[in-house]
Amino acid sequence: MRALSSLLLLAAIPLALAVKPEDFKTCSQAAFCRRGKALADRAGQNPDWKSPYSVDPSSLAISSDKAAFTAAVKSSLYPDIKFGLDVRVHHDGVVRVRMDEVDGKGKRYDETASWALLSEPQVSKDIQWTVGKKEVKATYGPKTDKVDVEITFDPLVVTLSRNGRSEVVLNGLGLLHMEHFRTKEEPKPAVEAVEGGEDAQTPMEVPEVHNPRSWFEGEEEDGYWEETWKSWTDSKPKGPQMLSIDISFPNHGHVYGIPQHATRLSLPTTSGQDFFYNEPYRLWNSDVFEYHADSTMSLYGSIPVMYAHSKESTVGVFNAIASDTFIDVAHPEPGSSYTHWISESGILDVFLLPGPKPADIFKQYTGLTGTQALPPQWSIAYHQCRWNYVSSDDVRSVQTRFDEEDMPVDVFWLDIEYAEEHKYFIWDKKNFPDPVDMVNDVSAVERKMVVIVDPHLKRVHSYPVYKEAQDLDVLAKVKDGQSEYEGWCWSGSSAWVDFFNPASWEWWKGLFKTVQSEPDKFAWIESTTDVHIWNDMNEPAIFNGPEISMPRDNIHYGGWEHRDLHNLNGMLFHNQTSQAVRARTDPPMRPFVLTRSFFAGSQRFGAMWTGDNLGTWEHMAVGMKMVLSLNIAGFAFSGSDVGGFFGNPEPEMLVRWYHVGAFTPFFRAHAHIDTKRREPYLLDEPYKSIVRDILRLRYAMLPIWYTAFHESSVNGMPVVRPHFVVFPEDEAGFAIDDQFFVGGSGLLVKPVTEKGATEAQVYLPEDQVYYDYFSGQTYRGSAKGKNVTVPAPLDKVPLLIRGGSILPTRERPRRSSPLMRRDPFTLTVALDKAGGARGELYLDDGESYAHEGGALVWREFTAARRGKATHVASADLAAAKPEAAVDGAALALYDKDNAFAAEVRAVRVEKLVVLGLEKKPGSVKLAGSELDWEFVPGVASGASKEGVASQLVVKNPVASITGDWEIVIQ
Ligand code: NOJ
Repeated sequence: MRALSSLLLLAAIPLALAVKPEDFKTCSQAAFCRRGKALADRAGQNPDWKSPYSVDPSSLAISSDKAAFTAAVKSSLYPDIKFGLDVRVHHDGVVRVRMDEVDGKGKRYDETASWALLSEPQVSKDIQWTVGKKEVKATYGPKTDKVDVEITFDPLVVTLSRNGRSEVVLNGLGLLHMEHFRTKEEPKPAVEAVEGGEDAQTPMEVPEVHNPRSWFEGEEEDGYWEETWKSWTDSKPKGPQMLSIDISFPNHGHVYGIPQHATRLSLPTTSGQDFFYNEPYRLWNSDVFEYHADSTMSLYGSIPVMYAHSKESTVGVFNAIASDTFIDVAHPEPGSSYTHWISESGILDVFLLPGPKPADIFKQYTGLTGTQALPPQWSIAYHQCRWNYVSSDDVRSVQTRFDEEDMPVDVFWLDIEYAEEHKYFIWDKKNFPDPVDMVNDVSAVERKMVVIVDPHLKRVHSYPVYKEAQDLDVLAKVKDGQSEYEGWCWSGSSAWVDFFNPASWEWWKGLFKTVQSEPDKFAWIESTTDVHIWNDMNEPAIFNGPEISMPRDNIHYGGWEHRDLHNLNGMLFHNQTSQAVRARTDPPMRPFVLTRSFFAGSQRFGAMWTGDNLGTWEHMAVGMKMVLSLNIAGFAFSGSDVGGFFGNPEPEMLVRWYHVGAFTPFFRAHAHIDTKRREPYLLDEPYKSIVRDILRLRYAMLPIWYTAFHESSVNGMPVVRPHFVVFPEDEAGFAIDDQFFVGGSGLLVKPVTEKGATEAQVYLPEDQVYYDYFSGQTYRGSAKGKNVTVPAPLDKVPLLIRGGSILPTRERPRRSSPLMRRDPFTLTVALDKAGGARGELYLDDGESYAHEGGALVWREFTAARRGKATHVASADLAAAKPEAAVDGAALALYDKDNAFAAEVRAVRVEKLVVLGLEKKPGSVKLAGSELDWEFVPGVASGASKEGVASQLVVKNPVASITGDWEIVIQ
C-alpha cells in the first residue's frame, strides 16, 4: 500500500516547468480525466481500497484451441451490469486482455485494434492452463524461462510473471473502471413549499440520499452528460464512458514510449512524491502552435505503447485505445514503475509484451502493428523544404544553386501555396504555370518532388475533389449524423473526408492517378509519378474547433463519435494516401508519404516529422529525444525540421542542426513562411562548406542507413538506437538520450546541441575501443562505464565507431543519391580489442518491390584474427542466416545470382581501411596476389593507451561488392 499511496499522493504546488497553453485542456479541464484522477485520489487515501471488479468463476471457459480464456466480470457497484473478459496468448508470447460491457445500453468503440494491427494475431497452441478456486493461470515458454499469466478472480487482477518475478500487473492498484452505459436521470424537481408556510420563500430541500458507490465513483456526476469548455459544448449523447486502468511494472525502474511528447526518453514522473511534471502525459492528437520543448502535452500523434526496463528484463504494454487518454507515471520506489491510464471511451484492449530483451519487445510490438515500411532509398537522403517555394522558377533556381554549390539533395518540396486557394491538387497557375515541366526538370537528375495534400477540402462546388466527396457522401458529419461538418482551415470554409468510410478509399486512390482513366473523375494528370506526398494537418487541425480540432460529438462512418477514434484519424488519411501513391504505377513503386499525425501502425505507411518546432537549442535537443522515442515505438522513419520551423537560426545553430539532421532517419530542412530563406548554399563561409561536408557525410553513409532501415522493416529494430537497447544491462545508460547508435552499424553519435560547445562528453558503456570517425583517435571504455571527452569543433560531429564494426560507405559526392547507384564502396574495418570485427550491407534497387521476390544483395563482412594473420572476408548473408534480417518470403525466393545482384556485380570495393592493426603487415593478399596498400603506424585496437589508431589502406582490393572474397593481412 505504500506504493499505492505515494503514487496517488498529489502535491498541490505546480511545477515551474509545466506549461498550460490556453488552447488545450489539462486533465482537470476534462471531466473524464477529473473522474479518473479523483478515483485514484480516493484509492490513495483509503488503505482498505479494493477493486469492485471480480471474475465470476462459474462463467469461466477455456477455448477448445486452449489459447483463450473467457469469463464474466462483475462490478460490486452495479451487480446488474455485465462485462466480458477475454484473455489470449499469441504465438510469440504476447498476451491480449480484452474487456467490454456486455448487453449494455450502448456499444463502446471496439475497432481501434482493427486499424492498428497488421493482421489478426495467431494464437499459441502451447499454453498450459491451471484453473484454481481463486485464479486461473496460463503458463508457457521453455522450462528455464517460464512465463505465467495469472488472472485472480476477486478482485480481478492480471499479472504477467517471468520465472516467478512479477513483470506487468493490470489493476494491481484497483483503479480499473469501465463506466457502463446508463440512462440519463432527469433531475428531480424540487418540491415547492406550501404557500404561506414556514419556508414560504425557498423550495423545500430534498433530503440527501447517500450514494453507496461514492467511495468509488464519487458523489457528483461530474460532466456525465454535457461538458462546456470555452465556447464549445460537447453534447455527450452516450453519457459517461471513461475507462481507467492502472498498469504496474513492480520490478522496472524506467518507462519509455507513449510518444509523442516533447520530453526525455526515460519518462519523468507525473505523480507520486517528487513528481517532475504536474500534468499526466496526454494522447490526443493536436496541432500545438509553438509547442513547449519540455512538457507532457499531447502533440500531433499518439502511440500508446509503453516499455518498462530493468537490468533483468524489458516488458511492455500496447493499450489499443484511440480516445483522449491521460497517463500518470510514478516511481514509488526506486526500481518500480506505476502508471495510470485514463481514457474517455473505448473498450479495454491491452497487449502485454513479455520481452525479455529490447530486441524481443520490438519484434513483439511490430509483430502486432507492423514494421517500418522499407522506404524508397532516395527518401532517406536529404530533403529541402520551406513554406514556400513560390513558383516553378523558384524551384528551378533552388535546384540550380544546390548544383552550383555541389551540395547533394534528393527532394524539393512544395507547401500549401502551390495550390490555388489551398485547393490541393489544383496548381496555382499564376506561379506554377508548367508543373509537369518543373517536376521533369527536377527528376532529370534523378531527384523527386514532394507536394502537400491536406485533408481539408475547400467547400466550393467548382473544386472537383470537394464535389466528388460530397456526391459520394464520404464527408464527416456533425452530431446529427446527417449534415456535413464545416470548419475552418487554410482553405477557409472546409469539409473533411471521413476516411473511416470505405467508400472513400477507391475514390481517394483515383485522385492521385497521373493518367485520366475515367473521363468524369478527377485525376492528377498535372503531376507525375516522381511526385510524392506530404499529409499535414491530419489530427485533424481545424482552426475554429475545440482544441483546434473536430468536435468530439461529430459522427463518422458506422455512427461512431469522433471522441472514440480521434487518434486514428491521421493514420487513416496517411494509409489511404500511401496506398494511392503506390497504386499509381503497375508494378507498384514504393510510396513516400510524410504524415504529421499518427497512431500505432502508422509506420506501415511512410514517415513522420515532429511538427512545428522552434529554432532554439532546446528544440534541437528534444527533437532527438523524440525521434529516439518514436524509433522504439516502431516509427523509425522520423525526424524534426532541420533549422527549426519558427525563427531564424544563427549560422552556428543551423550547422549544428544539420549535424542532428544527418544522424536522424528522416532528414529534411523546413521553415515557416515568415522566416528568412536559409537554404544551405546561402550560408557564408566557413558554414557553407561545413554544411556541404555534412550533406556529403550523410550521402556517404546512405548504405549504412539503408541497411538499418531494412533491418527495421524486417524485425522492428529501431533505426536509431538508444543505449538501453544496445546495452540492456548497463544501468548507467538507461536514461541516456543525447547519444545513440545508428542501426547495428556500431556508429555512436552525440550531436552537439549547445551553443559555443567545443567538446563533448561521450559515455562509453563497455571495456572496448572506440575510434573517432574522422581522426582515428582511440578511446578506451571501461566495464564500469566511462565518460570520454571528444573534440567537437563546429565542423565535427562527435562520432565514434565501436571497435568490432565494419562500415560500408560510398565516398564519391554526387548530386542525388540514385546517381550513386553504381558507385564503388569503401569498407572501414574498426577492429575490436581482440582484433575482430563484423558488419553488414543490404542493397536492392531502392524503389520497387522486387526485393520481396528476392532481388537483393545482403552481405556480411568479417574480420578475424587467425594466428598472426587478420582475415577480412565477405560472404553472402541472406542464404546463410534465415532467422536474421531478411524476411521469410523474400528469402524463400532468394537466389545469390538474382537479377539485382547481377546488375551490381560490377560495383567494386575501391578502398579497404583497417583501423587498429598491431603492426605493419608483411603482406596483404587476395587469392594469393599482393594488393596495393599503405600502412600508417599508430595505436593498436587492443592497447589500453589511447592515441591515433594505426591505419592500413588497401586500394582497389576487390572487383565486386557482391562477391565472396577473403583478404589475408599477415
Ligand atoms: C503546418 C505544418 O506543421 C508546417 O510544416 C507547414 O509548413 C504548415 N502547416 C503549412 O502547410
